[in-house]
Amino acid sequence: MQIDRSKLDLPLAGAKGETDDEGFCFPISPFMIFPEACAEFAVYVRKGKNLILFTRQGEQFTGAHKASLHENGIREVYIQSSQKPDYDRYLEEHLGTILIDESIPSSVRSSVLYHQATSILGEIFETNRHGLSSGSLNKLKNIVRSSLQFLSTGAALRAMAPVMSHGYGVHTHSANVFIYSAAILGSWKMPVEERLKTALGAILHDIGKATMPRVILNKHGKLNTEERDLMKMHPVRGVGMCAMFHIGQTVIHCLLFHHEKLDGSGYPAGLSESRIPLHARIVGAVDAFDTFTSERYFYADPLSAHQALTFLGEEMAGWYDPEVIIQFGKKLREAGID
Ligand SMILES: [Fe+2]
Repeated sequence: MQIDRSKLDLPLAGAKGETDDEGFCFPISPFMIFPEACAEFAVYVRKGKNLILFTRQGEQFTGAHKASLHENGIREVYIQSSQKPDYDRYLEEHLGTILIDESIPSSVRSSVLYHQATSILGEIFETNRHGLSSGSLNKLKNIVRSSLQFLSTGAALRAMAPVMSHGYGVHTHSANVFIYSAAILGSWKMPVEERLKTALGAILHDIGKATMPRVILNKHGKLNTEERDLMKMHPVRGVGMCAMFHIGQTVIHCLLFHHEKLDGSGYPAGLSESRIPLHARIVGAVDAFDTFTSERYFYADPLSAHQALTFLGEEMAGWYDPEVIIQFGKKLREAGID
């Protein structure tokens, strides 16, 4: 293996997991380093208990480098934790390239996409409580643009399923609703630009919850009437948070109307049937599906995908668009999710 040994060897301080306990370095898949990309971070390989410099910061990573890692059976390379912001920026720039690169296992691509989406959403829900920053919005637009095509097939949904969290976080819920919506949009007859806007509306649909008190947002269990009334303000607050941007009516509709029901019993406007825009009906149905299949389902244990679909289509008939549920069911079956 061609390794530059002129640089100081670095002690490997607990390089397991995403970052080590001492915040020193973190492992990544060698698939994430692209030949001809000029990385703004140094890459290290493990040798015994030490990390050895493999490519310098700013050095072009070549096909020969990649072949060398492959020939030596290296499954992980390492980046210093202090350079994580540079690595995140690099991933953001290359996400579209990563997702269409068939030489990268779909499990690796799925995990990079989910990690990127949930990291950005997590940061937004933590730091954008009074308004969405243009930087945050641009990051989400980049995720949507880079991944919509990748997410359009049942095969992609199958690859995403193992990495999707069904825990309690509003950021993982937002990512899941985006992924499910993108899968439905993949076979929905709709202009590409409208698909992009609907997908952006899906990833942003609950952004108004960023303004909610943490004690309510993170409450495990049923909300009381007062808390529920406050939470019902999140669609309107979400629109308010985006008011300074020209995000378009489709996106606004997804934020504002994803809790409307076909029978008119939803909120905030009590719209019914086709008065609820199609984009909002798609987001609303998968929003409910993700809630029923996750730990956020307050009234019972999480349902299986099959149970949740049946529940939406039968027990809740009259609330969600039957055509959306049929199309979603097809995608889930294609993905082998039941
Ligand atoms: Fe919501």
